[in-house]
Amino acid sequence: MELLIVNDYAAMSYKAAQFLASQVILKPECVMGLATGSTPEGLYKELVKMYQMGLIDFEKVTAFNLDEYVGLEAEHPQGYKSYMYNHFFKHVNIDPTNRHIPDGNAAQLDAECEAYDYAIKRAGGIDIQVLGIGRNGHIGFNEPDLKFEAETHVVALDEKTIRDNARFFSAIEQVPRYAISMGVKTIMQARKIILLASGKEKAEAVYGMLYGDITPTCPASVLQLHPNVTVICDFQAATLLKK
Ligand code: GLP
Repeated sequence: MELLIVNDYAAMSYKAAQFLASQVILKPECVMGLATGSTPEGLYKELVKMYQMGLIDFEKVTAFNLDEYVGLEAEHPQGYKSYMYNHFFKHVNIDPTNRHIPDGNAAQLDAECEAYDYAIKRAGGIDIQVLGIGRNGHIGFNEPDLKFEAETHVVALDEKTIRDNARFFSAIEQVPRYAISMGVKTIMQARKIILLASGKEKAEAVYGMLYGDITPTCPASVLQLHPNVTVICDFQAATLLKK
């Protein structure tokens, strides 16, 4: 794993945008795996700026999001469909038919998961996957568990994740208990992965991911086995790495 420690959130976002922009320039019809959460907001801002300056063109890009809550109404402001639209999709020219987010309201959730993996394969696989990291080491919504879940699946959210994500909702009771998430195999099949981490509350998870045992109790640790991962973290998230 390549580790880039940068000064702050702004530098992390800019560096990540450079990785994505170079992917789009090298392969305009690339497939991007995208993440939500507060961490990649700055990355999307930078990409929108680059697009507006005419530096990159998303016309031929296909995007697959990592995850979505189960059971939030389709246009719920905290749903990842709204997140992606507001932070990124409405500002750039990714063809609406090429924007994919798991449907957390599908009548048959298992069939939705299977169809999602199939759609990724049919698109040629993910060229570059963006990841954040949960305080408990989760990637996407792959929560600490006794085994790695391979494919896209329905997951019961961890108590820590529910508490962390409560800040986006009016009350903790509003946070969905389930989500659909790309699985570890789906993520690991991406040709290139960039993982972003900012803030001291991520320091422990970042340490575990980089130097801990490879274990499903810290899902991000599986990335140690991927041949092409770049971790971009700010000084705060790297606190435990500097000894
Ligand atoms: C969320 C998302 C993850 C994200 C993580 C960290 O619940 N499902 O994809 O990486 O938690 O979120 P944040 O960036 O807000 O700290």
